[in-house]
Amino acid sequence: MSKRTHDQVEEMEAGPSTVTSTSTSSLTPATNGSNDVNIGLLQLPQKRFYRQRAHANVFVDHELDYPKSPSEMDWSYHYPKYFTHPDQTEPSSIQNEKKVEWADVGCGFGGLLMALAPMFPDTLMLGMEIRMSVTKYVTDRIAATRQYQSMLPSNSTERENGEYQNVSVIRANAMKHIGNFFEKGQLSKIFFLFPDPHFKNRKQKARIITPGLLAEYAYVLKPGGILYTVTDVKDLHEWMALHLNNHPLFIPIPNEELTGDAILEAARTSTEEGKKVERNKGDKWVACFRRAENPED
Ligand SMILES: C[S@@+](CC[C@H](N)C(=O)[O-])C[C@H]1O[C@@H](n2cnc3c(N)ncnc32)[C@H](O)[C@@H]1O
Repeated sequence: MSKRTHDQVEEMEAGPSTVTSTSTSSLTPATNGSNDVNIGLLQLPQKRFYRQRAHANVFVDHELDYPKSPSEMDWSYHYPKYFTHPDQTEPSSIQNEKKVEWADVGCGFGGLLMALAPMFPDTLMLGMEIRMSVTKYVTDRIAATRQYQSMLPSNSTERENGEYQNVSVIRANAMKHIGNFFEKGQLSKIFFLFPDPHFKNRKQKARIITPGLLAEYAYVLKPGGILYTVTDVKDLHEWMALHLNNHPLFIPIPNEELTGDAILEAARTSTEEGKKVERNKGDKWVACFRRAENPED
């Protein structure tokens, strides 16, 4: 990522979500070989149809939708298995009992979420992403994967635990609105993976971790919860670690303590940026912190 230029254009414009031809993908279950049109079959999205500038300005008003408070958030669109839709008359027994517990802030193309969802099928996890087309890509990726999973025979080895019903993404400016989505102490994990480095001094206020924002993240993270940071930019790693170390509500976790931790391993290796860094044989810097108990408790 450190080699990226700032006005590099990544991906643009939302692409098609459904397949209306017989084009195949690894997610399109085999048909009978005829030329029938698979109307309504979702296909794994292709990034080239979702091009967008590499950086969104986090200080402009993007006309984002967000609830006034977490209690006003309707999660049924994101997790229909777990939340009752307003039009639904009879909730199932497992609905409305769970809350989102993990947030991937600046989730990009969703690699972490897709890796963790089947590993922790009972945990609801959410990606927050400011770029519209990138959010659309992840939305389509989840929808296609869910549909594919639902069509697999029950004894299929491709069938994943939870069938990705526990994962979703939302378009949001986490720097401004994280507290609108999550109540105090709701999250047990929050990830900041390969965040934009904003190298120039005058741009550092746009970094996703700043002293002011740490208060917001501490608010939504429950005591004992873990904040993960991974980056390939040493300066940014030092900046994030410095501010987190200086914050009274974050306690550094020695890296040895997390050795072999499957979640940290996924955080280091399963995102699209993490994979890119690996391909380029770049370094990765990790800093994880435990949310301290509230002083008044
Ligand atoms: C360099 S990318 C890393 C994406 C992903 N974490 C990965 O490792 O592949 C940083 C992402 O954070 C998103 N982002 C930056 N500021 C944000 C904000 N305030 N709220 C939500 N997303 C943000 C960007 O749009 C971008 O997709």
